[in-house]
Amino acid sequence: MRVLGIESSCDETAASVVEDGFRLLSNVVASSMDLHVQYGGVVPEIAARSHIESINGVVDQALTEAQCTWDDIDAIAVTYGAGLGGSLLVGVLTARTLAITHEKPLYACNHVEGHVYANFLTEIAEGRGEAESLRDEKSSLENYKLPTKQPEFPLLALIVSGGHSQLVLFRDHFDYTLLGQTTDDAVGEAFDKVAKIIGLPYPGGPSVGKKALEGDHYKYELPKAKVTSVSPALQEIRKRFVQKSSTSHAPYSIPPTPKANGFSYDFSFSGVKTAVLRLCQQLIGEDHTFPSKNIAERLTEVQKADVAASFQRIAIETVVDKAVQAFEEFQPASVVIAGGVAASPELRKQLSERLPIAIEYTDPKLCTDNGAMIATLGCFHMKLGRPTADPYTLDIKPNLSM
Ligand code: KG4
Ligand code: ZN
Repeated sequence: MRVLGIESSCDETAASVVEDGFRLLSNVVASSMDLHVQYGGVVPEIAARSHIESINGVVDQALTEAQCTWDDIDAIAVTYGAGLGGSLLVGVLTARTLAITHEKPLYACNHVEGHVYANFLTEIAEGRGEAESLRDEKSSLENYKLPTKQPEFPLLALIVSGGHSQLVLFRDHFDYTLLGQTTDDAVGEAFDKVAKIIGLPYPGGPSVGKKALEGDHYKYELPKAKVTSVSPALQEIRKRFVQKSSTSHAPYSIPPTPKANGFSYDFSFSGVKTAVLRLCQQLIGEDHTFPSKNIAERLTEVQKADVAASFQRIAIETVVDKAVQAFEEFQPASVVIAGGVAASPELRKQLSERLPIAIEYTDPKLCTDNGAMIATLGCFHMKLGRPTADPYTLDIKPNLSM
């Protein structure tokens, strides 16, 4: 089974072909990032126009690189939400047209679920006979470092991107509970905003990460938000789990056992972002009325590096604290990280140090938006006989949630 995946929810125009839900045959991403850098963030109108210009070429290239013709494609999967309206429209209308012209089933995919499914792409042919797996031992594209096996259920997913910060417990494919999410900014968004304050380029995740390499991670004490909201879905799932506790947290500053029942898996990042702003104003000897856009030019390179390192440590520690607590409470068989911030070496390091199970992280190229995650999710829609979308009516859902 081969699925063509199309993704255009933000500034990346992407298409990919995935076979059987694990084998990556092609992955083409055209980004309009260069056009947005000068504005310090994605401009929706510019993103939509660039999708129109590149989408046909991107789809053609994905088929060519996978050495496929339309006859080899069994279905089309497309992101229909969440995302920017104009951007989503281009991908969805393209997929609808292709599904009609080439008479292929169409699957409507949730972007955030897609991020999780990037982790199902593997290097070795899963579940195949010995002879077959020997024949194509290196089964996916060669320039990707992929896990050797697929994650198992129950699966804990930490989804951290520019638009989302969520902890989700999957009991099985398409059967999951949202344990917690951000109540304000997403973690990637906080990275982007902090980058802007200290004069680093967009996107902030990689630029803050790079600057942090030169800085002192413990130079400034920044706050971790205390969120107390517990959703009805979390209360419900808690009734079904018996809690065990085993993980060591040293040297991180959180209580050694989860405060089950009262413990919240929601996040908040607006407080730490404001704390960075106030800290920077203080470092240049100004008060809270000083405009944030004029701060960077007055900070020294050492101050910028120390702010980047201190912020990165606390922001990543905040999401890892919750992931570790959720691991202890629900004892999943696997843990995956997904979304743009999952490319962060600091996140990978902290999680590996603190979780008692080994995690096979996927290639950073599959953490930011791509078509492969949507093609993989599409394979599972098809494999499990889930409903197809009507190519004549499928609409976008910019606010689609998990
Ligand atoms: O998943 P994504 O490409 O788009 C959304 O769905 O939002 O995530 C983009 C976010 C941006 O906020 C960016 O700063 C962050 O992911 N990001 C990173 C890295 N690469 C991208 N954050 C930390 N480290 C990275 N290497
Ligand atoms: Zn994304």
